[in-house]
Amino acid sequence: MGICRSKVSLEGKVVLITGGNKGMGLETSIALLRRGAKVIIGCRSTQNVENEIRNIIPDADVHVKKLDLSSTKSVREFADKIKSSFEVIDILINNAGMLTDKKKETEDGFELTIATNYICHALLNHLLLDLVKRAGQLSSDCSRIILVSDLAAADKRIASDFCNPRSDNKSYNINFGVQSMDNQYPKSKLAQIMYGKHLATLLEDENCNTIVASCHPGFVRTDAVQGFDPGVKRNMFIYTGYVVGKTALQGAQTTIHLALSKFDELSLKKENGKLFSDCRPQEKCLFWSLMPKYIEDPVACKTVWEETMQMLNI
Ligand SMILES: NC(=O)c1ccc[n+]([C@@H]2O[C@H](COP(=O)([O-])OP(=O)(O)OC[C@H]3O[C@@H](n4cnc5c(N)ncnc54)[C@H](OP(=O)(O)O)[C@@H]3O)[C@@H](O)[C@H]2O)c1
Repeated sequence: MGICRSKVSLEGKVVLITGGNKGMGLETSIALLRRGAKVIIGCRSTQNVENEIRNIIPDADVHVKKLDLSSTKSVREFADKIKSSFEVIDILINNAGMLTDKKKETEDGFELTIATNYICHALLNHLLLDLVKRAGQLSSDCSRIILVSDLAAADKRIASDFCNPRSDNKSYNINFGVQSMDNQYPKSKLAQIMYGKHLATLLEDENCNTIVASCHPGFVRTDAVQGFDPGVKRNMFIYTGYVVGKTALQGAQTTIHLALSKFDELSLKKENGKLFSDCRPQEKCLFWSLMPKYIEDPVACKTVWEETMQMLNI
């Protein structure tokens, strides 16, 4: 199990994390606050979060703001508030996520899982990208966008649901699953990893001092399955989590590692766009080899990006 032992100080750094109010997001927030960062948490349930964190770290520089990642309107309002209060974001962490077995459409016409885990995060990154780029320009340390993903994206069943193999001009079925709601969560994470790869390429082409990295926390005991109806599937996740799952703090280690790591010019180029787990790149591991082959194809990643931007009217 990867453990981040870095003692790097984050004094003067601004971190924005989605879903930093509980589970792995909370552990990540606490770890970065302890290292002196100013941490902005975007979450739905804002009540008492600042007080609870200050009970643990009395002088925590923490700011909790309302954000519902199932709504593009909420994301735009949140981004406007951030832009009016902060000039840079050194570390932007796309952490919030959920699973559900119920098919639900958001007010924007997206399936709820895809909207929350992927599409609205892509909008948030887009709206805040200038602040992240500026942080990289003003510091010798690269700024970073960290995407908390999942190797569940390697689920073979979703490969054909996601990509339309019949079309010469391949298109991706990003929004609703054609086969099953079970495909929506892994699909959201597959889209997120491919989006991250293309975003890394774009930033590299612009010579930005910014890295994009995805990470897989492992199987972690959190409330992640609370969107499932009570029953066998939900219980199976919960009980298996107690037997073999990591704690939220253990699961947060790779995110913390990516937030604290030093990247020089060479390592930034080498690691940009990669997926990490257990505090190291994972693109040679068994699970990675189970991913659909098109995840390595820059054209496929660009197509996923472009279709996402079209869906967001950007
Ligand atoms: N647990 C695992 O085994 C595992 C494995 C691989 C990857 N992951 C990923 O790790 C990340 C963190 O999950 P976790 O396991 O720590 O689960 P968690 O404890 O349930 O935390 C999920 C976070 O997402 C937030 N969230 C959910 N829907 C939201 C919305 N519409 N708007 C704003 N925030 C929302 C939740 O906040 P609210 O209080 O507003 O609900 C909560 O802070 C997720 O991206 C998940 O997919 C988890």
